[in-house]
Amino acid sequence: MKRILIVGSTGQIGSELSIRLRSIYGRDNVVCGFYTPPYPEGFFDAGPTVEINALHIEQIAGAVKEYKIDTIYNLVAILSATAENYPQLGWDVGIGSLMNCLDVAREYHCAVFTPSSIGAFGPSTPKDNTPQDTIQRPNTVYGITKVLGELVSDYYYNRWKVDTRSVRFPGIISYMTLPGGGTTDYAVEIFYKAVQGKPFVCPIKPGTFMDMMYMPDALDAAIHIMEADPAKLVHRNSFNVTSMSFDPEILYKSIKQYYPDFKMTYEIDPLKQSIADSWPNRLDDSCAREEWGWQPHYDLEQMTKDMIEKLRVKS
Ligand code: SER
Repeated sequence: MKRILIVGSTGQIGSELSIRLRSIYGRDNVVCGFYTPPYPEGFFDAGPTVEINALHIEQIAGAVKEYKIDTIYNLVAILSATAENYPQLGWDVGIGSLMNCLDVAREYHCAVFTPSSIGAFGPSTPKDNTPQDTIQRPNTVYGITKVLGELVSDYYYNRWKVDTRSVRFPGIISYMTLPGGGTTDYAVEIFYKAVQGKPFVCPIKPGTFMDMMYMPDALDAAIHIMEADPAKLVHRNSFNVTSMSFDPEILYKSIKQYYPDFKMTYEIDPLKQSIADSWPNRLDDSCAREEWGWQPHYDLEQMTKDMIEKLRVKS
């Protein structure tokens, strides 16, 4: 049975990953490291928690020792648009947390998952069917931290046999905890507006395609890669994974099936648009499918239906 520490457990991914991991490995085998509020409802009653500032290595090491951790999920990051506005912070948080988790893992023999992203690609990357192994010259701080994360994670594996594994997440759509400061956030916010009966002002131009994924599939990816048979892994850091690719118009039409009067207008955010333009249209995730059986379950229609049902209950 794994003993897991999630660093950054209160964010968009962590708040749901902790629930799923506890359902698999048991409540007390998953320790939630928290730092930045707001904390999800019931967070402190759902299982063990520990305050961790990921920039303080001794706090991560302390939790790993105390709870006899063997697997670290490092989910700490400043998302793409915020990191462009606060580059030093984006760098310090992304790289600081990464290096601290890797060094603790090396000393205490833990496996480490640090998500990479579609942001690890840049304007010179092939945009369609973006291959697993291709040009990675991102032009954002977030993307640079993600490429460095991939390289350093592979380095720790090759040099010190630290069991590092990762996936390149697309934009993640979910209803429990809002993302913050990401370029793909529009694809979450639009659902909230539709369910509230309000119009949506889209910051991304029509015709801008990006990879997306519904949260249940993102959780599957994060868990299955860590359970994968290491003998079958040719790659480690990091695997292309995707579920769907759409532009704002396609998403709008999908939501309009449930809310025919829903209105969307455009007010382009130049920063987010330039980031989106530098990212792929659609990843080729065949290596993940072949090496560890990656298989998403939600397409755009299924996701739209489920998001709307869940948000209706919430509101
Ligand atoms: N969702 C992230 C962002 O938009 C990409 O990984 O920054």
